[in-house]
Amino acid sequence: MEFQGVKGTRDFYPDDMRVRNWIVDAWRRVSLRNGFEEYDSPIFEYLDLFTVKSGQEIAGQLFNFVDRGGRQLAIRPEITPSLARMVNAKINSLPRPIKWFSTPRLCRAENPQKGRLREFFQWNVDVIGADSILADAECIYVAVDLLRELGLSADDVRVRIGSRPLTIAALRAAGVPAEFTDAALAVLDKGPKLSEEDFARIAREAGLSDGQIAAVGRFQQAAGVDELREHFQGREDVRARVEKDLDDLAELFAALSAMGAGDYCTLDLRVVRGLAYYTGVVYEVFDRSGSLRAVAGGGRYDNLLEVLGGPKVGATGFGMGDVVLGILLAEKGKLPAPGGRIEYFVIEADEASRPMVLEVVGALRRAGRSADFNYRPQALGKQLKAANRRGAGRAVIVRADGLTVKDLASGDQREATLAQLLKAPAGG
Ligand code: HAM
Repeated sequence: MEFQGVKGTRDFYPDDMRVRNWIVDAWRRVSLRNGFEEYDSPIFEYLDLFTVKSGQEIAGQLFNFVDRGGRQLAIRPEITPSLARMVNAKINSLPRPIKWFSTPRLCRAENPQKGRLREFFQWNVDVIGADSILADAECIYVAVDLLRELGLSADDVRVRIGSRPLTIAALRAAGVPAEFTDAALAVLDKGPKLSEEDFARIAREAGLSDGQIAAVGRFQQAAGVDELREHFQGREDVRARVEKDLDDLAELFAALSAMGAGDYCTLDLRVVRGLAYYTGVVYEVFDRSGSLRAVAGGGRYDNLLEVLGGPKVGATGFGMGDVVLGILLAEKGKLPAPGGRIEYFVIEADEASRPMVLEVVGALRRAGRSADFNYRPQALGKQLKAANRRGAGRAVIVRADGLTVKDLASGDQREATLAQLLKAPAGG
């Protein structure tokens, strides 16, 4: 009988694991330098937590099950509801703003395709307890900081920024009744992925007239905040309600420019996001060639904590998956080169020096250096080959009267005592 991994899951062999750790290390490093603290939640929760406010798309992708006590549970498809639950439980004792990050393993019962799997890792960066648009700016800055850290430039990726309240206002100004808002947003979210004809067809099915579709299309083409203000000219009833959202958007772009992330960011009102809980600025990160799915997505969600039984506190953040990011980095040749796995491979020059190999290996390891050796005695040439195969930086050849340290990349070698070797700086 031959067993296979489940469709949409990945096995991480050491070469894959190295890449995964390299990405997760960068996520953690960038989070910490931006002042975020790490948290985590259980891998499964009560099913209700995910069905209350995430929206149909995610609810339809849950891996849920009934436990032995008859409880309805689900594996987390995202961590935002768990974050809201955790913060709600300690809301009075947590100093605000709460700036937290996490790198959870998530599962969604999606149809596996390029960039979408059933199990993946997702970096989450959120600020809770801050209404200021600067909190949104900071989250977007953190995403850009990471992209830059991994070698992706503004020519490679773009943060496309939209606005839920402005989109809703445009729907209203176009005469779309309030009860069609959710259906219309769901259609608009799919828009950029569809042909014009398919988009028009599902928009009509959602109750939008051709005139309304055209009006919303004009709104989405606005290239800047001033043009947006013009769009609402003559509709002072609607305009009054979105004045603050327009100001926020202008301030957001100014803040991103001031922080040095402006070149990565662009206004794109076609971005509305698929999740139901967003209430403000929303954004998605895409590769510029447009051939891949979103690398990251997020926005402001000011009602989620309240919906989950807590107080009304402002919240904003994003999630970035490892799958599309990995594909993009591989396409751009930015993944780390394999190798360099251990510092020293210790080998004996002859039979007589074999017992000393273990002493040298033990001393190196106790000194915090990575060192490896062969279980079987072998000729020197074969052992050097083994050292290369294992990706060692240096071979330490043990003789009765001392050590030879050979750099396996350059071939340079030098004599050393064990004491000198232990004192040598890492990589030296
Ligand atoms: P999301 O748009 O569902 O948002 O996911 C964010 C990112 O996670 C996507 O852009 C993608 O990179 C990755 N992702 C999502 N589904 C999959 C999948 N099936 N396979 C591989 N990667 C995937 C959220 O999850 C929100 N909770 C993010 C958030 C945090 N909003 C505010 N705070």
